[in-house]
Amino acid sequence: MTTKFCLIAVIAIIVLSILILIYPLLYQSIISPAKQSLPDKHVKIAAHRGANKFAPENTLAAIKKALEIGVDMIEIDVHLTKDNQLIVIHDETLDRTTNGSGRISEHKLLELKKLDAGSWFGKDFIGETLPTLDEVLQTINGKTTCLIEIKWEGDSPYMGIEGLVAKSIIANDAVAWTIVQSFESSYLENLNAAYPDIILGKLLIGSWSLPLPFYVDYKFHWGSYNPPNYINWVNFYYKRATPGFIKQLQSKGVKVGVFTPSTEEELSIQINMGVDAVITNDPVLAKRIRTSN
Ligand code: G3P
Ligand code: CA
Repeated sequence: MTTKFCLIAVIAIIVLSILILIYPLLYQSIISPAKQSLPDKHVKIAAHRGANKFAPENTLAAIKKALEIGVDMIEIDVHLTKDNQLIVIHDETLDRTTNGSGRISEHKLLELKKLDAGSWFGKDFIGETLPTLDEVLQTINGKTTCLIEIKWEGDSPYMGIEGLVAKSIIANDAVAWTIVQSFESSYLENLNAAYPDIILGKLLIGSWSLPLPFYVDYKFHWGSYNPPNYINWVNFYYKRATPGFIKQLQSKGVKVGVFTPSTEEELSIQINMGVDAVITNDPVLAKRIRTSN
């Protein structure tokens, strides 16, 4: 009798765990956007790596295109050069988006500035260069919000990069229209301690509650993610979004963004789920969905 009871209990726990783990998938596939409330017109639309569908990601051409489209935010990625300069590029290496190769941290700014960061995308962009953070901020110049993601160097944080980002924001008079986000908590902690006026966002891959609570940023962490009071935004991978997790974060006073829903279905689901921002590869489509009732 006891053995039978134990067996049933174990099976019940396994079934329950599987159901909870696949809940986001079930939610997204079973509940169609049409059954949800109308799209939220206030959701912010962030152009991921600039308007990367229309111009090479993280270049001034992509920033200008995003400004032309008229987005609420422009997301960019920042790395540190060998001579401690801030350069805007997504990968830690040059190979995918420039005609150079090797790690960013192995090259000085002057060498990086000679590279072509546009021809991989199309011949109209030949000669496009990697911009510095200063150049991006000067191009945006308060016309919209700049969402600055600070990256890692390979498998560890860049020493001191967050202080340089803060100095660039301050020098460009951009505190009011920038948000600094990262998967790396120490950057955010240090920024809050030294520059408490800078708006901060924590990046997560996602959060899980079963079999035991855990969350993932650059690393795996046991426990539930609890945003410190200096975190203004929590942005995470859209496939980990559930109405419950979004509401739980919002009830703690943080805004919630998801990256990177980019098809009509993905955007509609996320917008209808109540996120505060979508960081998307298709800001034109996102704007259309937001305004369509
Ligand atoms: O805004 C967050 C998102 O950009 C993180 O992913 O790899 O595109 O930088 P990734
Ligand atoms: Ca990014």
